[in-house]
Amino acid sequence: MKFHAFPQGFEWGAATAAYQIEGGSLEDGKGLSIWDVFCLQPGRVQNGDSGAVACDHYHRFRDDVALMRGLGLQTYRFSISWPRVIPFGAGKRNEQGLAFYDRLVDELLAQGIRPCATLYHWDLPQALQDLGGWANRDTAKHFSDYATTMIERLGDRVTRWITHNEAIVTAAMGHLFGVLAPGIRDLKIAARVTHHLLLSHGLAVQALRAARPGVEIGITNANSSHEPADDREETLAATELARDFDTRLYHGPVYGRGYPESVVRYYGSHGAALPIEAGDLETIAAPTDFLGVNLYSRRRILADPARGVGFRDAPPTLPLTEMGYEQAPHALGDFVRWVSREYGKPRIYITENGACDATAPKDGVVDDQLRLGLLRGFLAGLHGAIADGCDVRAYYVWSLLDNFEWSFGYSKRFGIIWTDYETQQRIPKASARFFADVIQRNGVDA
Ligand code: GCO
Repeated sequence: MKFHAFPQGFEWGAATAAYQIEGGSLEDGKGLSIWDVFCLQPGRVQNGDSGAVACDHYHRFRDDVALMRGLGLQTYRFSISWPRVIPFGAGKRNEQGLAFYDRLVDELLAQGIRPCATLYHWDLPQALQDLGGWANRDTAKHFSDYATTMIERLGDRVTRWITHNEAIVTAAMGHLFGVLAPGIRDLKIAARVTHHLLLSHGLAVQALRAARPGVEIGITNANSSHEPADDREETLAATELARDFDTRLYHGPVYGRGYPESVVRYYGSHGAALPIEAGDLETIAAPTDFLGVNLYSRRRILADPARGVGFRDAPPTLPLTEMGYEQAPHALGDFVRWVSREYGKPRIYITENGACDATAPKDGVVDDQLRLGLLRGFLAGLHGAIADGCDVRAYYVWSLLDNFEWSFGYSKRFGIIWTDYETQQRIPKASARFFADVIQRNGVDA
């Protein structure tokens, strides 16, 4: 192995999300989110788990920030629970909820850790869902008002903002396949949701800029590197289609390219439509400061004319993690090169990357070598992309703690720190020590 030094000033962090770690789901005036409700519906979440308690971060945040400090984290990406601060999504603000984020941000800054706030990580206030949720254009405006509330409260101390985490997952998994909250299975609704999420992004960029012109603003999506399964023309074309549906649909409008024709045609052929109104595409294309990249693996693509979208995944050829993702550490560098070329070399933050590895404590030690090895490979690949000229400035490992993995409940573990959900004890894993060393040396042996 040789040492791969990252650029001077590269920032190293960890990421979490409110509903996955906070708990306190009914505490101190917090309103219900669609996840609080979804978890109550039988069969939606493995083992009937919910984020009602999760990692109890709402009460234990100071200890968790101390763990971040112990690892040497320079930055920390968390999300804000919209219903914790605006219980019904619009109207009355909840001072106790706002005060929690004040305390969290102050603790981070006191420990020399830069806060990075995600406004939306899937926990829509249920009161807005009752009015149609993201399928209702009004929700985009409410989101912008929520952004104003948060930038006015925290904008003097939080200088890095992400509007949405993985719009593709909210739209597709929440409104087309129905496996995540709110559990809707309707393409027409999913198309409306896609557009309103992106519209809300554009409106939030305006709101954040208006209140604090100097902050960094970006959006982050779930990504995979796309690889043709063979070199046939039809396979190459199918791979571009996969990129249209997975990536260009969400990044294209943000970078002023509008929606991919292939997706517009597909929606149209199913009686669905993106509810674009005059000025929307200009709003969505409001200039941003960075592109967030979440990535865990690759997709190998084959043509499939029998499927409406025209492509499908080829069978895996690499070993899988417990999430069923191929162990493909080359995928991070590959995607970063592709997205840099596609969108004119934007500044990139890797806002999520990691691996599912449920290795449990043995005599108090968690030796998660699978995760550690994959992280090593991902970082080596990222180093290569940076060496090739990609403008990557930060990396947030997913996740700081084992936490609530949505419909998988607590059965899947992504943390570099073990969470014992019975005792709420935290145990830094081998991967945490590995990551602390990467931070300390600003580079990785690979
Ligand atoms: C996502 C979400 C995270 C997940 C993580 C592991 O990317 O799906 O942002 O909330 O927990 O990715 O699946």
